[in-house]
Amino acid sequence: MRKKGYLIVIEGMDGSGKTTQAKLLKKYLESKGYPVVLLKEPTDGPKGRLIRMKLENGNVDQFDLMRLYAEDRYENVTNNIIPALNDGKIVIVDRYVPSSLVYQSINGPSLEQILEANRFAPIPDMVIIIDIAEEEAIRRMQNENKRRDAFERKEFLKKVKEKYLTLPQELKKFSGWDKTRFIIVNGMRKQEEVFREIKKAVDELLGGQR
Ligand code: TYD
Repeated sequence: MRKKGYLIVIEGMDGSGKTTQAKLLKKYLESKGYPVVLLKEPTDGPKGRLIRMKLENGNVDQFDLMRLYAEDRYENVTNNIIPALNDGKIVIVDRYVPSSLVYQSINGPSLEQILEANRFAPIPDMVIIIDIAEEEAIRRMQNENKRRDAFERKEFLKKVKEKYLTLPQELKKFSGWDKTRFIIVNGMRKQEEVFREIKKAVDELLGGQR
C-alpha cells in the first residue's frame, strides 16, 4: 500500500466525452471505497476565465497560451492536486499537461518547451485519451450548441487527433513521462462501452500497485 494517491488524466477533443467518462470513473471508484477528487482544466478560477476570454477574442499566440495554461495549472496543482495526492486520494483531471502538449505544439512551442513550462506539475500515473473522428467532434459540438472557437475548425481538429495518437510514443523519451500508462480508447461507441474499457485499465493500474 503506497501513501501517495494516483493522478489519472482524461484527454481528447472537445466533444469526445471526457466529462461524462470522468464522472462515471469518479462514481465507480467511490463505489469501491476510494477517496476521489475530480478536477478540470482550464479551471473556473481567475486564470481559467482569462484564458476563455482570450480564446473568444481569437488570434492568441500559442506561446502566450502555453504560459497562461501553465499559470492556471500551477494554481490547480498547488491548491488542489498535490494536497489530494498527499492525502492518498485518486485525482481525476479532465484535461491537463497533455492538452498543452497537443494543442499548443501545433502552431507553437515544442514538446520540450511545453514540458519545461509545466515542470512543476506532477506527472500522471495514467492518461486516458478518448479518440473520435474530427467530423464527429464537430457534429457533437453543434448538437450541444457549443460556441465555436478557433480550436473547433476541422483542419485544426485533424491535427489535434493526430497529435493525441502519437503523443504516447513521443513522450517515451522524456524521463518521468516514460513511466506513465497511456491508453487510447475508441470514443465512437456507446458511453457504457467506452467506460468498460476505461474501467478495466484503471482497475489494472490500481490493482497492480496496491
Ligand atoms: P474545454 O475543456 O473546452 O473547456 P470549456 O468546455 O469549459 O470551455 O477547454 C477549452 C480549450 O482549451 C480546449 O479547446 C482545449 C484548450 N486547452 C489547451 O489548448 N491547452 C491546455 O493546456 C488546456 C488545459 C486546454
